Amino acid sequence: MKVNGTHYRSLWWDDDKAALQIIDQRWLPHEFRIQQVDTLQDFADAIVEMRVRGAPLIGATAAYGMALAAKIDPSNAHLDTAWEFLDKTRPTAINLRWALNRCRAHLLPLPEADRPAAALKLAHEISDEDVGINHSIGQNGLEIIRKIAAGKKDGEPVRILTHCNAGWIATVDWGTATSPMYQAHDAGIPIHVWVDETRPRNQGALTSWELGSHGIPHTYITDNAGGHLMQHGLVDMVIVGTDRTTRRGDVCNKIGTYLKALAAKANNVPFYVALPSPTIDWTVDDGVAEIPIEERQEREVTHIQGLTDDGKIGVVQVTPVGTPGGNPAFDVTPNHLVTGLITERGVCEASAEGLAALFPDLSGIA
Ligand code: MRU
Repeated sequence: MKVNGTHYRSLWWDDDKAALQIIDQRWLPHEFRIQQVDTLQDFADAIVEMRVRGAPLIGATAAYGMALAAKIDPSNAHLDTAWEFLDKTRPTAINLRWALNRCRAHLLPLPEADRPAAALKLAHEISDEDVGINHSIGQNGLEIIRKIAAGKKDGEPVRILTHCNAGWIATVDWGTATSPMYQAHDAGIPIHVWVDETRPRNQGALTSWELGSHGIPHTYITDNAGGHLMQHGLVDMVIVGTDRTTRRGDVCNKIGTYLKALAAKANNVPFYVALPSPTIDWTVDDGVAEIPIEERQEREVTHIQGLTDDGKIGVVQVTPVGTPGGNPAFDVTPNHLVTGLITERGVCEASAEGLAALFPDLSGIA
């Protein structure tokens, strides 16, 4: 997607520097900073500190991490060490482990001398595939938006609520939840997006930055506003992303998603999840019981970062000094609250049968 007229992906390989470049998202939406990732420690820090974030982007980043590991030392022992080092950076988004497993499975059968080049090629492939998957999710989601638009008066927007940032910067490009929005807007279908703030880290501000750059009308709302808006008939549909979806369609996503799904169910608002296949964990059935939920630092809750009146990025404390903060970063929405899963292969019911019908080749993996 474009930033100030230039097309960017959220990460890219610089051939001249022989290094990965990322957008350091800690400074968005106020500053657009690019960072080079040089060491395995840099890769781990980038993921832990959420310079890169969003399940698909974490996966693609980890693949480049494995490419660096193979370049430094392509032995089995070193690749295993790198796998473990990167795997422990963030526990919930399954794309991380999916990418690490894919890299290891691809590299281990190869002669050591071939591994560095093969690892880099695979990281490029994983990134390119992500772009293709998200574009297809957008096409499939566009059809749902088109149907809702058909029931509206000319020029009346389809009002979509989203939570967190499942946008292009959370993936390599297009985003998952945002891809149908970009494609509907580009197809001339009027839309308006309610953007949940998404405390504690305010990923909604990233979504606002993305949508604003693309000219998509949107309104930034507090996390508590969604239920009220749905109750008053102001939301036509919800589309969110996911960090891990189980084989039976339970959806783990950013904390607060579950509350939106409950409000959507109570108000008959369709609740869709944009789901790329690498985000499906075929080994897990019951999301609430089985998915590990990342617990992040309390400082993210007790403090907040923003732009001060003198135009500088600053952090302020919002609680009394010493107040303990609790910070579960994700929650699980049970499948019965989900209207449909928008995947790259089509839209399906959030159920074991729905997912297996679309992915017969993958569903036997567990
Ligand atoms: O903690 P984050 O910002 O990495 O969480 C991001 C989300 O929860 C997204 O909705 C999810 O990863 C899907 S991104 C396409």
